[in-house]
Amino acid sequence: MIIARDLYRIYTMGQVKVHALNGVSVEIRSGEFIGVVGPSGSGKSTLLHLLGLLDRPTSGEIEIDGIDTRTLSDEQRADFRLRRLGYVFQEYALVPELTVFENVILPFMAREEPPERSRDQVMEILEIIGLGQRTNHLQSELSGGEQQRVAIARAIAGRPSILFADEPCANLDTENSRVILDLLAGINKEMGQTIVMVSHEDWHREYFERIIQLRDGKRVDEGA
Ligand SMILES: Nc1ncnc2c1ncn2[C@@H]1O[C@H](COP(=O)(O)OP(=O)(O)OP(=O)(O)O)[C@@H](O)[C@H]1O
Ligand SMILES: [Mg+2]
Repeated sequence: MIIARDLYRIYTMGQVKVHALNGVSVEIRSGEFIGVVGPSGSGKSTLLHLLGLLDRPTSGEIEIDGIDTRTLSDEQRADFRLRRLGYVFQEYALVPELTVFENVILPFMAREEPPERSRDQVMEILEIIGLGQRTNHLQSELSGGEQQRVAIARAIAGRPSILFADEPCANLDTENSRVILDLLAGINKEMGQTIVMVSHEDWHREYFERIIQLRDGKRVDEGA
C-alpha cells in the first residue's frame, strides 16, 4: 500500500523553476491496477518516479507498506527498491549481451538469493509470460513485444510489492500493446500484483481499475 501526501516536485534549471507536481496526494491499495493519465508534461512520470523512490519530492511524504520513506538512508532506499519494487519503462533496458534467462535472473543475483530457487522462479515466470521457449535468445533475436515481456518478467520475478510501469507500450503497435496490457491485467488478477502504470492512450483506460488523472501537476480525477 502506498500513501502519499501533498507531493510537490520543483525542478530547478538555472534561473527557471519548473513546478512539475503541485500538491498531489494518492492512496494505492495492495492489489490495485492503477492508471496514471493526463496530457504530456502533466507530471505523470514525475509522480511515478517519486512513488517508486527513484526521485525525492521537494516536499510531501510517501509511505509504502507502512514505512515512512523519508526515514530511509540512501543505502536503505536502494535496498528497498531492489527487494520491494519493480519497474518497467518504455525502453526495455535489457542487457544486450545476456540471454533472456540471464536478464531475468540478474536481480536475483543482486539480491544474493540462492541460485537453485532463483532459477526455478525465473523459469516459472518465463513460462507464465509465454517465453519459456525463448530463454536462450538474445535481445536482438526478439520482437519489441517479446523484449517488453522479458522486461516485465525481470520486474516481477522477485514478486515485488508494487510494479511501476511508465508507458510500457509506447514503442509498440496496437496489437503488441494489447498483448502487454492483457499480460499486466493477468498478473494483476492472478498474482494479485499491485500495478501503477502511466499511459496517455485513451483506450488503455478499459484495463485500469482506477485512474489518477493529472493536469498541470495536480489531480483532476474524482478521487482528488
Ligand atoms: N529532470 C527534469 N528537469 C527539469 N524539468 C523536468 C524534468 N523532468 C520533467 N521536467 C518537467 O516537469 C514537467 C512534468 O514532466 P513529466 O515528465 O512528469 O511529464 P509527463 O506527464 O510524464 O509527460 P509525457 O507524457 O510527455 O511523458 C514538464 O514540464 C517537464 O518538462
Ligand atoms: Mg512521462
